[in-house]
Order: sequence, then C-alpha cells, then structure tokens
Amino acid sequence: MENSSGRLVQPGTSASSTKLVGRAFEQDMKVIRSWLMDDEVSTIGIYGMGGVGKTTMLQHIRNELLERRDISHSVYWVNVPQGFKIEELQDLITKYLNLDLSSKDDDLSRVVKLAKELANKQKWILILDDLWNSFEPQEVGIPIPLKGSNLIMTTRSEMVCRQMNSRNNIKVDTLSDEESWTLFTEKLGHDKPLSPEVERIAVDVARECAGLPLGIVTLAESLKGVDDLHEWRITLKRLKESNFWHMEDQMFQILRLSYDCLDNSAQQCFVYCALFDEHHKIERGVLIESFIEEGIIKEINRQATLDKGHSILDRLENVNLLERIDGGSAIKMHDLLRDMAIQILDEYSLVMG
Ligand SMILES: Nc1ncnc2c1ncn2[C@@H]1O[C@H](COP(=O)(O)OP(=O)(O)OP(=O)(O)O)[C@@H](O)[C@H]1O
Ligand SMILES: [Mg+2]
Repeated sequence: MENSSGRLVQPGTSASSTKLVGRAFEQDMKVIRSWLMDDEVSTIGIYGMGGVGKTTMLQHIRNELLERRDISHSVYWVNVPQGFKIEELQDLITKYLNLDLSSKDDDLSRVVKLAKELANKQKWILILDDLWNSFEPQEVGIPIPLKGSNLIMTTRSEMVCRQMNSRNNIKVDTLSDEESWTLFTEKLGHDKPLSPEVERIAVDVARECAGLPLGIVTLAESLKGVDDLHEWRITLKRLKESNFWHMEDQMFQILRLSYDCLDNSAQQCFVYCALFDEHHKIERGVLIESFIEEGIIKEINRQATLDKGHSILDRLENVNLLERIDGGSAIKMHDLLRDMAIQILDEYSLVMG
C-alpha cells in the first residue's frame, strides 16, 4: 500500500470504511453495479463537484468487487496524478500486473507490452480516480475495445467523461438536509445526545454546508466533543458570515484545485459570481452582461464577447464550480464554493492593497 503520492490505494483507507449516507448514493451504486454486470457497458464515468463523494462511492464499489472471487484479483485502482505523463500511468497500472516495463523500453514497446498483457487477461476493471484531463487509452496501452473489461473513472468534469467516450455517466449530487444531518451527527460521534438547545443550533450549522459531504465531515470533526451552547452559537454566526472556514483549511485546498485549473478570465468570472446574493439564481444573460461591463471579457465584437461569456460559463458548469439550473438559462453557486470565492476576493484585495 502506498500513500497518495504513491498513487496506489488499497482497501482500508478511511473513505473505504466510511458508512455511506444518502438515498441517491445507494441508487447510484445500484446503477453502477448493474452496468458492471452488463456486457454492453465498458466505460463508466462518475462526476460531480469536489468533495461530493465520488471517490467514496467508488471505494465502496471496489470493496464489493474485492469480495468476489472471480474478479478480486483483477481490480486495478489508480489515483491519477494531476498532469500525469503516459509513462506514469503505465507504471501505476503495471504495479498490478506481472509485467516488467523497463524505463529503457522505448515508448512504443511499453505501449505494446502493456496492451498485450491486458488483452491476454480475460477480464479486468481499471479504476482511475480523480482524472483531470482526458487521454487516449490506446496511447497508454489500454486496448480498445475493452472486450468485457471495464474502465471506471471519477472526475470533477463532465467533459472529461465525454472526451473519454464514456456513455454511462453518473452525476453525484449533494445530500438533502436530512441526510446532511445524519452524516453530521454520525461524524460528531457524541457519546451522549446533544441538549435540545444545542441540537437546534447544530441543525442549522449542518445546513450551512449545503449538503456537501466534505464540508459536513470537516465541520463535524472540528465540533467533536463541544457541548458549550455559546460555542455552537458562535460557530453558526461565523458560518453565516462566511468567516468560519480558512483558506488554508484542507477542505478549501481541495475545492480550490478546480479553481486553480481555470484560465485567468474564467477565474475572474467565477469569483465575480460570488458577488450575487446567497441562494440566488443568476440569469446567464445578466451575468454575461456584468462580465462585459466589468471588462472581464472583451473580444473583437459583441457576438464574440457573448460567445466567450457562454463558453466560460459552460466550462464552469462542466467542472462543477457552478450549477446549471432552469434548463441552462440560469446558474447557481454552491454555498461553500461561494465562501471560497469570497475568500479569494479578499486575497486579491490584500495583494492589490
Ligand atoms: N455519501 C457519503 N456518506 C458519508 N460520507 C461521505 C459521503 N460522501 C462523501 N463522504 C465523505 O466526504 C469526504 C469527501 O468525499 P470524497 O473524497 O469521496 O469526495 P470526491 O467527490 O472524491 O472529491 P474530489 O473531487 O476532491 O476527489 C470524505 O471524507 C468522505 O468520507
Ligand atoms: Mg475524489
């Protein structure tokens, strides 16, 4: 077993032992299970915003597969490094195979060797966790068509699923208020029940994460063992004022990765969206006009500028930094992402003086 930098995760990591909360999670798992039984399905994509539970869901699927004698030896889990090189991915897959891919081999013979080895195996399931960019499977040595084997990936971007030619995709959604509360109390792990006064505030505290498991888990960890009513009240107040979370918190570091991958104008547009009211749905047209007024987007003519605005919003939706609503005519921003954007704005203003 290696750590995240070693990129090879075996069962027993914290997420794999997490009890899954949420009806939609159960349903999504059912669908994935049925796809894995279906010979017609070869590639499966799981996408959704950062921290929503994609890896966790897949770890549960992987654990189920490891219980099955027929396939347990052929489940290959790879944590895909951001900006990976082909050789890196080959090496990570090869760790599961009885294959020696020497770095002295030229590129083509590495591809051929790996493809041959995988093609000779009757069935395997290759899981690529956290894919940020698409790639050509053949260039790595993953033989296409997969002929009964499966490629499963998790990614924040729906586009990556499409580019990987995956037609069987699932979007992982946030939890309902009730489910958030279940996860929150479970992670809080109080030995004795919360007093009714604390509980009333705690319900609102959990709601502030707007159903994002990463936020709920992080918050519950920080409030573990806290009985004091005042402390709960202060926490709720700070959450409502968006100054509970710190940019250096691991949670924000994780969410921020999506932002860091954007080009400059998309970053500015994302941050700009945070200036709209919380819980506010923003009409696309209105938003793009604001981008233009602010000088964030500027092309040679009006049509090109509008097109640019739409393409930036498409991109932000695609990487799940914005949520598409009303059939695509408007967008919404998840509360925690809005908090993050506000903090990025604060950072900017500090730098600009
Ligand atoms: N349905 C769930 N029930 C219980 N805990 C969950 C659930 N979904 C996620 N979690 C917890 O939330 C945290 C974030 O989940 P996870 O790492 O799976 O998110 P992710 O979607 O893979 O994020 P990223 O895009 O950063 O890879 C983990 O601590 C995980 O245990
Ligand atoms: Mg993940």
